[in-house]
Amino acid sequence: MTMKKINKYFLILIIVMLGELLFGEYFFEDRETVLAGNIEEEINLSPVKTVGKLSVEEAISKRRSIRGYKNGPLSLGEVSQLLWSAQGITANRRLRTVPSAGALYPLEIYLAAGKVKDLKSGIYRYNPERHSLIKVVDGDKRFDLFSCSFSQSSVKNAPISVVICAQYERTTGKYGERGKRYVHMEAGHVGQNIYLQAKSLNLATVVIGAFSDEDVKKILNAKEAPLYIIPIGRGK
Ligand SMILES: Cc1cc2nc3c(=O)[nH]c(=O)nc-3n(C[C@H](O)[C@H](O)[C@H](O)COP(=O)(O)O)c2cc1C
Repeated sequence: MTMKKINKYFLILIIVMLGELLFGEYFFEDRETVLAGNIEEEINLSPVKTVGKLSVEEAISKRRSIRGYKNGPLSLGEVSQLLWSAQGITANRRLRTVPSAGALYPLEIYLAAGKVKDLKSGIYRYNPERHSLIKVVDGDKRFDLFSCSFSQSSVKNAPISVVICAQYERTTGKYGERGKRYVHMEAGHVGQNIYLQAKSLNLATVVIGAFSDEDVKKILNAKEAPLYIIPIGRGK
């Protein structure tokens, strides 16, 4: 091999490495998510509404933590709207409903579906790029989640729980130790969006921070760290 050729390959290698460093979070991660969608069962969610009956001021003033829910199911449309409020894409094919430090989006949203019309019970991962659900685990896991959240009945009784998980490295890779606080702040943004979206849909919810991290991670079959369990249903 001539020196000229070696230089050319070296240059290509440098460009690829730079690309990974600068855009890896967006490009490679997105590809991974999309590919996962091909391998496993994927459910496309209905388009979301960006106009509602409740003003943002009314939703804020009426927001409350509610821990008791009626027995009935949620619709897939309601689930679609709730997941979109948590992490949906709203601009430039990348920017989302919540702010994110450096637009690195370290949060992954899981759905523990117990009673949802037209959706099999199971654990799903929300795919913001395709506004779809990717099946991760079969079966109703609400009781397992309840058991590892110190038997908080809201988790057992709600038809669904949304679980906010974090892959810290996406943010600490750029911001170091300080990135951890950014990730937690971002989970707060998601939690509040879900509270307000739930209120607007006339649903009830509460954010749950007390649970065993390791057990929840196992139930979700997640590689990310769980931060919040958010049961949602029709308030009693
Ligand atoms: C970080 C955090 C963790 C929480 N963890 C729990 C929890 O484990 N269980 C629960 O029932 N409520 C939990 N809550 C909800 C609070 O109890 C609730 O927000 C508080 O009582 C005020 O009521 P409000 O939300 O209706 O204004 C948590 C709230 C926050 C912000």
